[in-house]
Amino acid sequence: MVHLGRARVASRVDFEEAEELIGSVDQIVGPEEFTTLKAIGLAFRELPVGTEYSHSVAIAALFPYARSLLNVSRTKNPSWFRKGATFDGMPIERSHFFSSWISLLAEISKWRSTQDDADGVAISIERGDSRKSLGRKDAFDGILTSPPYLTRLDYVQATLPEFLLLKEFDIVPDMQRLRRSMLGSPLTSERPDWNVERLPETIRDLLRRIESHTSKASASYYYRFFSTYFVDLQASMRNIAKVLKAGGSGCIVVQSSNYKEINIDLAAAIVVIGEEFGLRHEDTIEFKSRRSISLVNTRAHHDARQPKSECAVFFRKT
Ligand SMILES: C[S@@+](CC[C@H](N)C(=O)[O-])C[C@H]1O[C@@H](n2cnc3c(N)ncnc32)[C@H](O)[C@@H]1O
Repeated sequence: MVHLGRARVASRVDFEEAEELIGSVDQIVGPEEFTTLKAIGLAFRELPVGTEYSHSVAIAALFPYARSLLNVSRTKNPSWFRKGATFDGMPIERSHFFSSWISLLAEISKWRSTQDDADGVAISIERGDSRKSLGRKDAFDGILTSPPYLTRLDYVQATLPEFLLLKEFDIVPDMQRLRRSMLGSPLTSERPDWNVERLPETIRDLLRRIESHTSKASASYYYRFFSTYFVDLQASMRNIAKVLKAGGSGCIVVQSSNYKEINIDLAAAIVVIGEEFGLRHEDTIEFKSRRSISLVNTRAHHDARQPKSECAVFFRKT
C-alpha cells in the first residue's frame, strides 16, 4: 500500500508536518465530546496536501485504529469482515481519538527510514501493476519481492478496515478493480489459451493435473484460478527481467501450497519461468516464517499461527 510505503521512507520533517496536520484537524472538528470518522475525514480533506509524505504518514498512523474499530465486524471465513461493514454510526470520543492518533504516529515513526541521515540513501515510492510495467529497461541493479502466494487469499478484502478509512480520508478506491488487478486474485477471469501455451512445459503439466482432478470445479474455477496465476506471474517475471541490468541480482520469496494432494512448488515454478527470461538460478534457501500474511485472519486456517515454510529464490540476470 502506497501510504505505508511512504510512511516507511518519510523524513523527520514529514513526521513533524503530520503532527501539525493532526492538530489542524482537531481544531476544524471542534470541541464536541463525540464525533464520527466521517467528520474527521472531511476535516482532513479540507487541509491542503503539503507533501504527499506527511499526508500519507498521518493516514498510515490510523490504519491500526481503523482495524481495531472494525474488529467488532469480524466474522468467520470467508468474508472476514461482515458484508457492508462500515464506520458509520460509530461514535468517536474526540479527545481520546486525537491523543491515540498522536501516539500511533509516534509508533510508526520508529520505523522511519534513514534517508535524511548523512549516510542515508534516497528512496522513492512508485505504484504500478507488475504484470504491465515495472519501469525502464535496465533500470535496477537488484530486485527483492514477494508475490501473493497460491493461497487464494483476498488481499483487498483482508485490508477492508484500511480501505474504509481511505474512503473517508483520501480518495475512494475502486475495490473491485483492485481485487481484479491482484496477482492470485480469487476473482478469476479466463486468460486466452495461447497465453497458457506459452508457459513452461512443467507448469502446463501441473495445470493439466489440476484440470483433470476429479474434485468439484477442478476443470472450471480451479483450473482458471491456477492458470491465470501462472500467466500473470510469467508476465511479472518478464517485466522483472526487463528492468534488471545484466549482472543484476534478485530474490523472490514464495511459499509452496497444495491443491488437494497435488503439491505446487512455487519456488521451482519461479526458477523455470525466470530461466526463460535470462534469470539464472543461483540458490534457493528454505526458512520458517512466523510473519505470514495468514496472520491477518488467524481464524481462516486452522494452522494460521503455525510457522510457514517459505523459500527465498536467488537469481542473477545473464
Ligand atoms: C506476499 S505480499 C508481499 C508483501 C510485501 N513483502 C510487504 O512486506 O509488504 C504480496 C503483495 O503483492 C501485491 N500485488 C498483488 N498483485 C500485484 C500486481 N499485479 N502488481 C504489483 N503488486 C501486486 C499485493 O498488494 C501484496 O502487497
